[in-house]
Amino acid sequence: MKVLVATEKPFAKVAVDGIREVVEKNGYELALLEKYTDVNDLYKAVADADALIVRSDKVTKEVIDHAKNLKIVVRAGAGFDNLDLEACTAKGIVAMNTPGQNSNAVAELVMGMLVYAVRNFYNGTSGTELKGKKLGIHAFGNVGRNVARIAKGFGMECYAYDAYCPDEVMLKDDVKPVHSAVELYKTCDVVSLHIPATPETKNSINHDLVNLMPKGGLLVNTARKEVINEEELIVLMQERPDLKYVTDIMPVADAKFKTLFEGRYFATPKKMGAQTAEANINAGIAAANQIVDFFVNGNTRFQVNK
Ligand code: 3PG
Repeated sequence: MKVLVATEKPFAKVAVDGIREVVEKNGYELALLEKYTDVNDLYKAVADADALIVRSDKVTKEVIDHAKNLKIVVRAGAGFDNLDLEACTAKGIVAMNTPGQNSNAVAELVMGMLVYAVRNFYNGTSGTELKGKKLGIHAFGNVGRNVARIAKGFGMECYAYDAYCPDEVMLKDDVKPVHSAVELYKTCDVVSLHIPATPETKNSINHDLVNLMPKGGLLVNTARKEVINEEELIVLMQERPDLKYVTDIMPVADAKFKTLFEGRYFATPKKMGAQTAEANINAGIAAANQIVDFFVNGNTRFQVNK
């Protein structure tokens, strides 16, 4: 049985060692394809793999078509918009994610990006503090919850909107539930995005929504670039010189944002929310364990293409 780890953006070595241990302890073989730049290398590597572990790597219908033995693909992470679920289902391949495993890492980055933004990107001028500011958490999943936990330590007042999360869950975390995105953006000085990229959410963070934010509003995106309506955000930021946008997912229009909004915009060069040794270990080893548990016990608890 062959388990392929295919990561264009590799895990930390310590995480790969941990994955190898799980895989080999169970008598399977580990194959590694890291930092590949040519999709043909992935097609070749996946040809005889029984299981596949990826990160944001695109598992398209073409990849699936090349994977003659594949029974399971695990996205070591939360968002599975990179997996062609239909293609997996059509071939009877189980697709999973590893929810929660990298969420603290992303939440810590959110806070780092917020401090960076409110201190004017460390340019030496006088900034503002996060204490006492209203933080809007747009979607209260694993990352959102961790953001709330840390933000409260900063003295921020936390609000959340999540159509799929009951109020009680937020209230238990001392987070104020609001019942629409409109209410969240109207209320909060800072909004942190934690929605997945789906047909419903794509382009949903648009001019009219962000324009509801109070003066000096700050939007932080560690979710997906697709949820932002980039052209409309550009128009809005031109209309409203008080707004700032910081993102861990470089927009398609990065050059335009950079030129137009110097001092109000920042994008990490490569998505790094989950780029910590701890998150790599948690998500990578969880993926390996889920594969073993699937082969040995038929466990499909984290299947996303049911
Ligand atoms: C996720 O969905 O888990 C995060 O966006 C992390 O993605 P990455 O594995 O590509 O860093």
